[in-house]
Amino acid sequence: MAYQRVARLDQLPEGRGLCVQIDGIDVGLFRVGDEIHAMENRCPHAGDPLSEGSLDGSVVQCPAHGLKFDLRTGFRPEHGDGFPIPRFAVRVVEGSVEVDLAQSLNLR
Ligand code: FES
Repeated sequence: MAYQRVARLDQLPEGRGLCVQIDGIDVGLFRVGDEIHAMENRCPHAGDPLSEGSLDGSVVQCPAHGLKFDLRTGFRPEHGDGFPIPRFAVRVVEGSVEVDLAQSLNLR
């Protein structure tokens, strides 16, 4: 697979997420300052969309029951082990946000 253009950079507001669908997978795009994060949009607790949560720096809080996840790791901030939410490679090319689902950033 390769990078796919999924949104324009100016569609991503500061402090909120944007859900896009890529190959049938809901992916949340999050803009934190100059960084863009792409993470599976499904909260592992009960499946609510994390893109509708609130951002505090690089931590998103699920709108349903308040669990928090670090966009830089996919883990809950207080639990750095277990299974992280899948994160994907993302880049900006000429004002467009591109995501490559084949490049999981969680693999170690
Ligand atoms: S669905 Fe996200 S905390 Fe419950």
